[in-house]
Amino acid sequence: MAKTTRRTSKATVQAPRVSVAIMAAGKGTRLKSRHPKVLHEVGGKPILAHVIATATKVVPAEDIFVIIGHEADRVRAAVGASGVQFVLQAEQRGTGHALMAAKEALATYDQVIVLSGDAPLITPDSVLKLSTFHSSQNAAMTLLSADLDDPTGYGRVIRKSAKGSEVRAIVEEKAASAKQRKIREINSGFYAFSVPALYGHIGELSTDNAHREYYLTDMAAVFQRARKKVVAMKTPVPAEVLGSNRRSEIVDLDGRMRLAKCHQLMEEGVTIFFPETCVIDSDVEVGADTVIEPFVQLRGTSKIGSDCHIGSYSVINNTEIDDAVAVLPGCIMDDARIAKKATVGPYSRLRPGSDIGEGAHLGNFVETKKLKMGRGSKANHLTYLGDTEIGEGVNVGAGTITCNYDGVHKHKTVIEDGVFVGSDSTLVAPVRVGKGAYIAAASCITEDVPADSLALGRARQTVKEGWARAKRSQK
Ligand code: UD1
Ligand code: CA
Repeated sequence: MAKTTRRTSKATVQAPRVSVAIMAAGKGTRLKSRHPKVLHEVGGKPILAHVIATATKVVPAEDIFVIIGHEADRVRAAVGASGVQFVLQAEQRGTGHALMAAKEALATYDQVIVLSGDAPLITPDSVLKLSTFHSSQNAAMTLLSADLDDPTGYGRVIRKSAKGSEVRAIVEEKAASAKQRKIREINSGFYAFSVPALYGHIGELSTDNAHREYYLTDMAAVFQRARKKVVAMKTPVPAEVLGSNRRSEIVDLDGRMRLAKCHQLMEEGVTIFFPETCVIDSDVEVGADTVIEPFVQLRGTSKIGSDCHIGSYSVINNTEIDDAVAVLPGCIMDDARIAKKATVGPYSRLRPGSDIGEGAHLGNFVETKKLKMGRGSKANHLTYLGDTEIGEGVNVGAGTITCNYDGVHKHKTVIEDGVFVGSDSTLVAPVRVGKGAYIAAASCITEDVPADSLALGRARQTVKEGWARAKRSQK
């Protein structure tokens, strides 16, 4: 909605230049936290990141101004990659004061949509509707309101009349009379303002209130005195305005967001059993016909293909899984990749840099780190494979350990195609096992093994006939 021209039958009219300001400078005192409120996470990412994602669907990032103050550097670092602009509100003297700080940044726009950095459920559709409703009303200020069953803690909307959309004032909970507190229509903290009207009158705000702050909500009464129009647009989806002043509210928002994510995935063809037990982050993708068992966590930017099966109690973070992969219960994965038709688990742990080939198998209690495993290779039991490259069709026996660390440096193990590593072998890196070679069980391999050879690295067995019988007869 940046500056564009629109042709109508009568004439060429200039579409309003619309900006978004996101208030994110507050401390979040009620959370009793060392960390800024807007960086607390819901749906797997900072609350503010959700609000920014919504805003960028309405206006380009360069027209979005995030007002920061408390721990400004941390907030900027956390969401800077989105390309939005930042405005510093060095001292936080209220939501009205936040908009005072943004005066210069917003001066060239016709309209500003104000969003609250602590209310992440608002949808692009509602923001857009608020903006167009505001323009159509020729109002100085339009606020988004909602009817809440429990309006406690929110500002209440005092309408001019029961029928019309005009608003006389917004009364904060602390200042509200007993009668006003019964009003269930609350101020969401989302507004559209005419920029000239806002900055023509913002100087009339005072700090004559419980917190000695400049309340943006008081602009309703200011405009009322100046005989400028203030209207409310009520959302049909009250839950989308919920904020996060308290820990319990953050947890509630997170639960709503995750359940919505599960329902969205189910709409797209994913089966999720007991969805209320699954934790799926907002940015995760899952292909159709994948089945997710109870108590699964899919985190970060994980991408799961189609026709996969994800077993219970698996925690999968920033991992790419191709189609038809079976993840048996209890697996933990971080920054890993799994090619199609592979089987992993139960109880496999894939650490960063694990890259598992097509149709490969990793079994119980197998830990991998920086492992590149080729097609059809297997490591089915009780194994550690770190800094290792494994070719195709390799069998890694139970209890195999790559000794990749000498206490100072990490070293690489290479196991070429078709190798058979006997159970309980240790491979002391750096070491290479050539194509088609065999390692005898329980070997300690310290030197390269040539292709197609057999390597034995263990003491020869000795047998002392009758030794045990003799021992017992000593009793
Ligand atoms: C505000 C509204 C209230 C509304 C509610 C909806 C005011 C006075 N009250 O109350 O009517 O029902 O939102 O959720 O506005 N912030 C700044 N700078 C500041 C102070 C706050 O940027 O100096 C930011 C905060 O970081 C937060 C947002 O503004 O993201 C809202 O502030 P908050 O303190 O949460 O306001 P509420 O008490 O929830
Ligand atoms: Ca709030």
